[in-house]
Amino acid sequence: MKRLPIVVLISGGGSNLQAVIDAVDEQNLPVEIRAVISNCADAYGLQRALANRIETEVVDHRRFDRREAFDCALQRAIDRHAPELVVLAGFMRILTPGFVARYQGRLMNIHPSLLPAYRGLHTHRRVLEAGGVRHGASVHFVTRDLDGGPVIVQAEVPVLPGDDPDTLAARVLKQEHKIYPLAIRWFAEGRLRMVDDKVFLDDELLTNPVLWKACSE
Ligand code: GAR
Repeated sequence: MKRLPIVVLISGGGSNLQAVIDAVDEQNLPVEIRAVISNCADAYGLQRALANRIETEVVDHRRFDRREAFDCALQRAIDRHAPELVVLAGFMRILTPGFVARYQGRLMNIHPSLLPAYRGLHTHRRVLEAGGVRHGASVHFVTRDLDGGPVIVQAEVPVLPGDDPDTLAARVLKQEHKIYPLAIRWFAEGRLRMVDDKVFLDDELLTNPVLWKACSE
């Protein structure tokens, strides 16, 4: 089977990147990770890429005085690898509309909340402060609307008594590692697409995101 060329963008630890690498190693994900690009030179995820002989590149946002200029440099770095999907895996920069438009329909993100709840940062802390009892993660296509693109798959976790942001984040992250490779696989297999900001899986319009617990892959 043809392996889909992808580029992964990270800013930090890269545990989601690792989940993708592991799924590829286990023959569970027909993609070729052509490069891992980070805006932070010290992102640990770059070490993970190097350990797996994946090309890496740093495009440091601090070298640019405008968001557009950074996104242009990022775009050039990505396009050198001609990916058919760009995977945001803990990439903590807001992208310009021009950048998003260029990769429309082939730009995916994972966000640590049950979108549309808790867009933005510090989701775990905010769920705890609000006294929420359920939390989770969402994989979505990226549109101009920050954390607002159509959701593909979600995983839910309970908020437990005594949780702090770290324990809750760890519980959510474990689920992220399941749903991100799954969504990428659907895309690589040609089963998933976005048309007019709507998601189709196996040619059916997803009126609600797939819920990980309930799905059989
Ligand atoms: C993950 O929890 C991911 O959902 C989140 O950053 C973490 C990265 O972890 N992304 C965002 O908050 C994007 N807005 P990782 O580097 O270990 O994959």
